[in-house]
Amino acid sequence: MHAVGIVAAAGSGLRLGADLPKALVPLAGRPLVCWAVDTLLAGGVARVVVAVPASERAAFAAVLARDVVVVDGGATRTASVRAALAAMTDLGHPTPDAVLVHDAARPLTPPDVVARVLAALADGARAVVPVLPMADTVVVVDDAGVVTGAVPRAPLRRVQTPQGFDRATLVAAYAALDDGAEHTDDASVVRAVGVPVVTVAGAERAAKVTVVHDLEVAELQVGT
Ligand code: C5P
Repeated sequence: MHAVGIVAAAGSGLRLGADLPKALVPLAGRPLVCWAVDTLLAGGVARVVVAVPASERAAFAAVLARDVVVVDGGATRTASVRAALAAMTDLGHPTPDAVLVHDAARPLTPPDVVARVLAALADGARAVVPVLPMADTVVVVDDAGVVTGAVPRAPLRRVQTPQGFDRATLVAAYAALDDGAEHTDDASVVRAVGVPVVTVAGAERAAKVTVVHDLEVAELQVGT
């Protein structure tokens, strides 16, 4: 299977309180985006396209290996992935049969998660997501913050990345999206056109770095 990776790295560092894009924030001295690219390559992806904030192309190119393709991202994650997908047509031969889309914000994702996603695609799945069970009780609240109900947690899963797709399936699903449509992940884009999404085991280390606490936890995990 020839798989290409997309890293969505065009987000801001706002919630991290950083004055640079989140994907350039260092973890153990290396930008988050470099960790994410390395995970994909170590797990079996052949090439990687990274969507970055348009104003920061030079800064990203300076920290990424030369064979990593850097493209301008968009205003939303959905727009960024769409831009990276468009750039994949320039990657030459062979045409990839699989695409794995990964968040730069998940720097410590173990390569074996990537390998599990690739294995499920090789087994014939058209869309694959790594997931973890819910440990907490989940409730519904009203506008005043009063609990109005509980959601049974047994069937709930937390969805991570990288998410893997048959390339033609993902390209067709993005082509079917309305221009302004916004999804928080890519599996929901393919589900919107009726494609079944299968799950494999994710990993706690693949947790997303969103706020300062997440970065502090990631720093503690490095080297463990
Ligand atoms: O904001 P959030 O943490 O949900 O973003 C998930 C991933 O999507 C991050 O790696 C971020 O860099 C990326 N992203 C993007 N383009 C945007 C917004 C977010 O590539 N416009």
